[in-house]
Amino acid sequence: MRALILRGSPRKNGNSATLTNYFLKGLTKSKSHHIDDYFINDLNISPCQGCLYCATSENHKCKIKDGMKDIYSAYRDANLIVYATPMYWGYMTAQLKIVMDRMEALAWEYFYDKTLVIIITYRHHFESTVGFFERIAPYFRLKLNILICCTYDEQ
Ligand SMILES: Cc1cc2nc3c(=O)[nH]c(=O)nc-3n(C[C@H](O)[C@H](O)[C@H](O)COP(=O)(O)O)c2cc1C
Repeated sequence: MRALILRGSPRKNGNSATLTNYFLKGLTKSKSHHIDDYFINDLNISPCQGCLYCATSENHKCKIKDGMKDIYSAYRDANLIVYATPMYWGYMTAQLKIVMDRMEALAWEYFYDKTLVIIITYRHHFESTVGFFERIAPYFRLKLNILICCTYDEQ
């Protein structure tokens, strides 16, 4: 089994990181997994430029050469994808949204049988981000699971 973990918070010891660490502990308890684990904030990833090269070219690859290369490759190999994010002003973090936009290139590759787990930490609301993932999961043919956790830490 292979898992790709994408952590959207800039806080490495924050709530979503803690929750994700516990999730991984449980995941690897019964079965060993190869885990590709990234803090998006550490990677050099540019926003999608909307050139539609991935949609219109024969190979459906993204033209931008940057930190997404490793994520694309880990995504292709993974059975399980985990996106962890706090809510920031009613949405996922900008770090994760940039990656999601760049995932457009992967929507053209017809993967089946991948499971998606979304981990959301929040103080007041989470519905818009849950709605986002419910909307996009069918495009990527992902089996969607969502974990939400209300937090009361000091910021
Ligand atoms: C800039 C900023 C904006 C936030 N906006 C929201 C929000 O719109 N809704 C919400 O429920 N929580 C919001 N929060 C609270 C965080 O989602 C919450 O504290 C979360 O647990 C932080 O996760 P982390 O420790 O993994 O970074 C915001 C926090 C920050 C720093």
